[in-house]
Amino acid sequence: MYASLKSIGAYAPSHILSNADLEKMVETTDEWIEKRTGIKERRIAADDESTSDLGVKAALLAISRAGLAKEEIDLIICATLSPDHFCMPSTACVIAGKLGINDVMAFDISAACSGFVYMLSMAKAFIESGMKKNILIIGAEKISSIIDYTDRSTCILFGDGAGAAIIGATDTKNEAILDIHASADGRYGDLLITPGCGSKFPCSQETLDNKLNYIKMQGNEVYKVAVKTLTNDVIDILEKNNIDASQIDHFIPHQANFRIIEAVRAKLNFPIEKTVLTVAKYGNTSAASIPMAMNDAYEEGRIKKGDLMLLDTFGGGFTWASALVRFGGH
Ligand code: COA
Repeated sequence: MYASLKSIGAYAPSHILSNADLEKMVETTDEWIEKRTGIKERRIAADDESTSDLGVKAALLAISRAGLAKEEIDLIICATLSPDHFCMPSTACVIAGKLGINDVMAFDISAACSGFVYMLSMAKAFIESGMKKNILIIGAEKISSIIDYTDRSTCILFGDGAGAAIIGATDTKNEAILDIHASADGRYGDLLITPGCGSKFPCSQETLDNKLNYIKMQGNEVYKVAVKTLTNDVIDILEKNNIDASQIDHFIPHQANFRIIEAVRAKLNFPIEKTVLTVAKYGNTSAASIPMAMNDAYEEGRIKKGDLMLLDTFGGGFTWASALVRFGGH
């Protein structure tokens, strides 16, 4: 028995924050942002929309595309760095409640932008061990809630959104999640961090005055490690599985920065037509980035049953992960 990605769904909030809008908020230009990142615009959730609301919309689409009844789901995992609540309840529990799935194992994971591929790895293990049958994984982010919109080094990069998938079982290798490699190196933690409102610097007026509740990043350093790690990870997983880059139907990288994606793509010689790119319209949506990109390609009719997808991601922690997945949906 193999684990299989049976369906994909996503949701992008309707409000668009363009580079031109950001020009009015911080000292930047559309030209600078596009040249350095490839981002043209990103989506921002409404004030009354929280991370779980975005996640629910993506989840409903994934559930219906898998042809499942909600009651058939026996595990819900949510990856997010912008949960509805600090500590508890988990966003997975909030989503379960809103979906009306009331007796189910549900929990969040914290792996920043690598969250979706980390969840895929866990879901694969749960399915292959026979412990669970139909797993809903959701990457959902209202990152705008932890962004300082006076800090031009971060506010230009991130956006809100959600993506979800159903992982079930198959006896066909042609529809299976073939391999996943996920890893982390905590020595780089300070380079991409929300320093405050945890146990180290509990929420206080001082924490808020010093803006420690927002994402802080040393972009240049993150960039260098990201390119190296993403490239090496792809080379490793392809070699380990005896798969040539030319056999990949869709390269779906984390959508952080077009220049990072381009460096990895060029090094591995993936044709641009096989590379899924949504960074221009959504920016970096962290744990939602890969499933939102996959969903766009799916809705464009590019992804068919049995197609071989290569996922590659990198994020705060530092965490990183890659996966070889044959699409098991319709
Ligand atoms: N608009 C205009 N100028 C800006 C700017 C902005 N939004 N942000 C920074 N600058 C300025 C800097 O102040 C600096 O000015 P200086 O030379 O006068 O000091 C100059 O542009 C170059 O800054 P630098 O940080 O070296 O730019 P960069 O080429 O590294 O690009 C990032 C910055 C953030 C786009 C890039 O480093 C990056 O994408 N890093 C990875 C971030 C990431 O993906 N994080 C998430 C990982 S999951």
